[in-house]
Amino acid sequence: MRAVVIDNFGAIPGIQDVPQPVPAPGEIKVKVSASSVNPFDTMVVSGVMSQMYEHRFPLVLGKDFAGTVTEVGSEVSGFAVGDRIFGVVSKTRLTEGGGFGEYLTTAADSGVAHVPAGLDLAVAGAVGLAGAAAVAAVDALGPLSGKTVLVSGATGGVGAYAVQLAKSRGANVIATAASDSAARHVHELGADHTVNHRDDLATQVKALVPEGVDSVVHLAGDGPTLASTLAEGGHIVSAAHLQLEDAKVTTVMATTDRDALRQLAADVAAGRVRVPIARTYPLDQVAEAFTAFIAGGVLGKLAISVA
Ligand SMILES: NC(=O)c1ccc[n+]([C@@H]2O[C@H](COP(=O)([O-])OP(=O)(O)OC[C@H]3O[C@@H](n4cnc5c(N)ncnc54)[C@H](OP(=O)(O)O)[C@@H]3O)[C@@H](O)[C@H]2O)c1
Repeated sequence: MRAVVIDNFGAIPGIQDVPQPVPAPGEIKVKVSASSVNPFDTMVVSGVMSQMYEHRFPLVLGKDFAGTVTEVGSEVSGFAVGDRIFGVVSKTRLTEGGGFGEYLTTAADSGVAHVPAGLDLAVAGAVGLAGAAAVAAVDALGPLSGKTVLVSGATGGVGAYAVQLAKSRGANVIATAASDSAARHVHELGADHTVNHRDDLATQVKALVPEGVDSVVHLAGDGPTLASTLAEGGHIVSAAHLQLEDAKVTTVMATTDRDALRQLAADVAAGRVRVPIARTYPLDQVAEAFTAFIAGGVLGKLAISVA
């Protein structure tokens, strides 16, 4: 099968013919239709996680996926051949991805849910990791009705979902945006106000909310500056491993349980949550997608069309 792989950390990802994976007990095999780029993928390529995770080359990249079940391993329940599914590739070796290959295998009991009728696989492929991280972050904020939430990193993949989820739960949302087009983008997602993180962010937030914000969703940006925008008793939820001595920080990981993914997909299918795909690249242009992603300025998600 065709897959985008690296043969070494730091290498430019390229297409290779590799054997199709075989589902182990507890796994399903998926014919992949779509995926998307996440910081996790570029971190895998860079090698920064090489000490943390067992790996072997050629390493098939890609965490997100949407596709169709073609084989069900032993000890699997709840999935059948032909099911349309999406999620986050879940393997024992975390750098053994797979969303950027024509077929993948993944654990059936975590990180995978059915795609509801009416939702395109091309869209579902850009939901998994970023959407799940946003659910985890917004869930960690607690009840949001009448609260003010600053989303730092709102223009990115996780930010797009976090802004929409926080707004739908009744928050007054302030989103970071460094240009007019970025500000339009986050307003369209539901942000009430924008602040430019390339200017004096704390002063801008203070002008909007003199008493300070109740919570910050940290996806990017300077921790102490963000902490300075908090009201008394406020707290920061970080998906980006923020460590701060003087503020209450809750670190979250993407919640890839089936219920969270199922709810997210239902929200997308019903039009309650939008998947902002900035651009779709074919599989043989993953390297170009990585270059654009690393260069920055992407509003939302970069999708990968696999088949
Ligand atoms: N813990 C988990 O399970 C989990 C899961 C998914 C993601 N994450 C982490 O969450 C973070 C966000 O992920 P993502 O997929 O949303 O990444 P992304 O798509 O690259 O988005 C990051 C966004 O932050 C913006 N940004 C850069 N510097 C900023 C600053 N100083 N202040 C405010 N915004 C700034 C970027 O804008 P420009 O492009 O214009 O610079 C970009 O729009 C990453 O650190 C990722 O590793 C964690």
